Amino acid sequence: TSEKIRDYGSRKKTLMRMGGREMVRKQHELGKLTARERLDLLFDTATFQEVQLFTKHRSTLFGLGEKDIPAEGVITGFGRVDGRVVFAAAQDFTCSGGSLGEMQAKKIWKVMDMAIAAKKPFVSLNDSGGARIQEGVPALDGYGGIFYRNTLASGYIPQITATMGPTAGGAVYSPALTDWVFMVKRSSYMCITGPDVIKAVIGEEVTNEALGGALVHSTKSGVCHFAMDNDRDCINRIRTLLSYLPDSCHSPLPIMPTSDKPDRECPDLNSIIPDKPSKSYDMKRIILEIADNHEMLEPHALWAKNMIVAFIRIMGCPVGVVANNPRFGAGVLDVSASDKAARFIRFCDAFNIPLLTFADVPGYLPGTRQEWAGIITHGAKMLHAYSEATVPKLTIVVRKDYGGAYIGMCSKQLGADYVMAWPSAEIAVMGAEGACNIIYRREIQEAKDSAAKRKELAQTYEAQFNNPYFAAGLGIIDEIILPMDTRKRIAFLLEALKEKSEHRLPKKHNNIPL
Ligand code: COA
Repeated sequence: TSEKIRDYGSRKKTLMRMGGREMVRKQHELGKLTARERLDLLFDTATFQEVQLFTKHRSTLFGLGEKDIPAEGVITGFGRVDGRVVFAAAQDFTCSGGSLGEMQAKKIWKVMDMAIAAKKPFVSLNDSGGARIQEGVPALDGYGGIFYRNTLASGYIPQITATMGPTAGGAVYSPALTDWVFMVKRSSYMCITGPDVIKAVIGEEVTNEALGGALVHSTKSGVCHFAMDNDRDCINRIRTLLSYLPDSCHSPLPIMPTSDKPDRECPDLNSIIPDKPSKSYDMKRIILEIADNHEMLEPHALWAKNMIVAFIRIMGCPVGVVANNPRFGAGVLDVSASDKAARFIRFCDAFNIPLLTFADVPGYLPGTRQEWAGIITHGAKMLHAYSEATVPKLTIVVRKDYGGAYIGMCSKQLGADYVMAWPSAEIAVMGAEGACNIIYRREIQEAKDSAAKRKELAQTYEAQFNNPYFAAGLGIIDEIILPMDTRKRIAFLLEALKEKSEHRLPKKHNNIPL
């Protein structure tokens, strides 16, 4: 037996070396950590339990018969993150470029199946040259099985992907099917076809970084939620994100003990709204002010900046915040802002995270670009996402809340449980001067001084609608509150709504406009 134990030890030692010293050195030279180093950072010390270390590929095509690929180029298993169980797969670029063949895929399927059975989050750390070219179709089949499992797990367990190396072709779709995509600046890129194919097919010249680097996907396409400076920061941020998420849709929300009192007043908020309606202010200050310990985690911070989505905690309990940001495009709703908010709302609803909406929105962005990009369909996503969400939904109208966008920011009729407004709120079909241009067109045209007439008429319109009192009089706004009391109100409402449960019509599933 001791011989067999020794043999086991030496086989294991060989596999633990990954692609060997030279390949590990190359990986480090590129500023990248190895798969095992990444998993060590992800999991609490000495908690990682490896799964299927001894898996081997069985292809003999194109020289693969002679090729050893330790651990099949992916390390899989589970461990603890801040004490909570999480499952993970980390591709190992030092072994045949982490390329995905039949057996690598089966390892990933196994650990995903375990995460689903155990109802625990799944984290994928991707670093791979893609489908193992020598193997052919079994490699593609492997991706298919991953996409299928990503989809089955969607809304059941949280799924996080970090792209920490190249990702091209079919490999990009597993990240896209998961809830959260992290990328590491300079060492990762994601694209459907690489620069060579692009040049051959459409003659365009572009580099991998300019085509699908972390900055591109976190600013232009929105594919990436978190663009991180290096592997270490990336994994730390994944740990932070996990701290806001439950294990599954059937698990309680993680509560973080806090000494920040629920009834803390926020006097600074009384003066945050500028007197001049056209002047902007930073909505993030409002969110930080009301959050436990002034902390928030903001996905998509660089994309569609006119819309903020963020996780905060109130009384230690995670809350998803959706807010217009008047700093960018006056907080207008456009295609990207609607997509960003809708996906976030659906994530929060799927995992029972209450929704808190701050509205300061002038309307939908007009123009051919937006109409031709389908603002009608994209805007409808937000309406659908809010309406179908059954978690506690609180809305606070901070300043402007106009037209269809008023409805889109979780108005009462989309099922908001409680809608509050600050005294600075203006709730109307549109801005006063624009409204008067339409309803008093003739009077304005016929007046000696049209501009003066428009101004005069606008004042009466403003007096009627550009305040929260008309809406509060009709019960469309439930309460007008002092800005300084916002945290207190939210905390008590969330406490009161804790047991909220809503049941919808029996059906297979909704058909959200996509
Ligand atoms: N299939 C099989 N092996 C692959 C592979 C793949 N898709 N991608 C990388 N490898 C192997 C390489 O052959 C090399 O093997 P070796 O160590 O035995 O020589 C090893 O991984 C490292 O790759 P290398 O090309 O030396 O690394 P690099 O950092 O210079 O380049 C890539 C990385 C990803 C840009 C490059 O490997 C590449 O273009 N791969 C193919 C990508 C692709 O088109 N995939 C199609 C599937 S969707």
